[in-house]
Amino acid sequence: MSSKSLQQARKYEEIYGGKILAEERPLFHVSPKVGWLNDPNGFSWYQGEYHLFYQYHLFNTSWGPMYWGHVKTKDFIKWEWLPTALAPDTEYDNAGCFSGSAVGLPDGRHMLMYTGVQEWQREDGFTESRQVQCVAFGDGVNYEKYENNPVLTAADLPEGGSAEDFRDPKIWRDEKENCYYAVVGNRTADESGSILLFRSEDTLHWDFVTVLDRCKNQYGKMWECPDFFILDGVAVILTSPQEMRARGMEFHNGNGTIYIVGDYNAEKHEFSRTEVRAIDYGLDFYAPQTVMAPDGRRILIGWMQSWESSHSQPHGSQWFGMMTIPRELRIKNGRLIQNPVRELERYRSEQILYRDVDVRERIQLPQVCGRCLDMTVWIRPAGGRFYEKFTIKVAKDTENYTAISYKPGSSILRFDRSNSGFRHDIIASREVLVRNQNGELKLRIIMDRFSVEIFVNDGEQAISSTIYTPQDATSISFEANGIAIMDVEKYDIVLPQ
Ligand code: FRU
Repeated sequence: MSSKSLQQARKYEEIYGGKILAEERPLFHVSPKVGWLNDPNGFSWYQGEYHLFYQYHLFNTSWGPMYWGHVKTKDFIKWEWLPTALAPDTEYDNAGCFSGSAVGLPDGRHMLMYTGVQEWQREDGFTESRQVQCVAFGDGVNYEKYENNPVLTAADLPEGGSAEDFRDPKIWRDEKENCYYAVVGNRTADESGSILLFRSEDTLHWDFVTVLDRCKNQYGKMWECPDFFILDGVAVILTSPQEMRARGMEFHNGNGTIYIVGDYNAEKHEFSRTEVRAIDYGLDFYAPQTVMAPDGRRILIGWMQSWESSHSQPHGSQWFGMMTIPRELRIKNGRLIQNPVRELERYRSEQILYRDVDVRERIQLPQVCGRCLDMTVWIRPAGGRFYEKFTIKVAKDTENYTAISYKPGSSILRFDRSNSGFRHDIIASREVLVRNQNGELKLRIIMDRFSVEIFVNDGEQAISSTIYTPQDATSISFEANGIAIMDVEKYDIVLPQ
């Protein structure tokens, strides 16, 4: 049965979403049908397609009571909108359907697991809230909330767990044990985050298993949007800590994201950490979630936005918020490697190739320009002598540019969007320490109208940021202090209608 709120949302997005022109949006990155989008939810493989849901407040471009928007794709590049999947229309989720996940069931149904936020006013006027985990079942378009929701409440928490910060379930099916597991974020008595592991035989009744890992006030405060999987033989936890303190060149995002690599004893459900690092070093990245593709690839998608700068929006836009390009994950030498899904290569057109270009003062290369592109740049010193700095400027016209610069002396790569269309004083630059390779550097740069994603040295680091530069700023320039040699391979990304 679809509620009045859901029907109203579906009608609203049809009318107002339909008015947004295709060229006012990203070409191949997910954006909301209309209004506001935050976290990716329910990234799953179901009946031959990938489904993705998103935190959605369709009625304006600010965060508000959360709905679940819905898109699907066969190849991570061409996406199709589907009608809103969930609305905050019951007592247990009256203040919002918060983040969660999805899984295809053996009986053919698609199951969503999400956080219901309930709010009520006490007699003295104070608003109280609690978060519970709920499920819904559907056919890939329409979903029915389970009549006995919620399936996890404060009563299921270990001692000291907060009922107000208990959210973002990530479910997966364990084929070997023929059961389901879910990790859920929680706040503990020390005021910082933990990741709880639950188990279920039937998706409706859940048992607490263990605390998989906890923050102990070391990495931010509350841990949001956990994910857990085995990749290339090692156990990986992803989570998005709120209120992180920077350490050296790591963890500058405030609301940051980390991956924790470790060992996992599946019988005892014991996880032990070996390494903690940032997932993305850009200005806009949060709340990533992964799906396992049928061919065994682990694919990650994130919200390409930071909470801190989410008030800085282009004038008059009817949508706000987008996802990153989905990325293939691998583990190499204990580190997470991320590269754009290989499906992107199918949409490359018009190869432009330059080899051994000598770069000193600023140059532009014929046909190396655009705002929807996939460009790889290899940089190296000339005759063994270090250049001091190498700078690429993209989305450039006489007034605007976005700068990516590298200083081999310090191995620091800098991203700067001070001149990229923002009208508020928001954070505009970030510096990233990259692996020192004697002045050599490989950058793959993916641009899609409103974003720049940089994959450093075959995915050793990712740097994702939004830009709102006018779309006719399409030039690209290269320059070096000193002399550098460069190869460039550039493709436009084109989606056939
Ligand atoms: C992360 C988050 C989640 C929550 C959702 C609400 O960005 O705060 O923890 O479920 O957003 O929209």
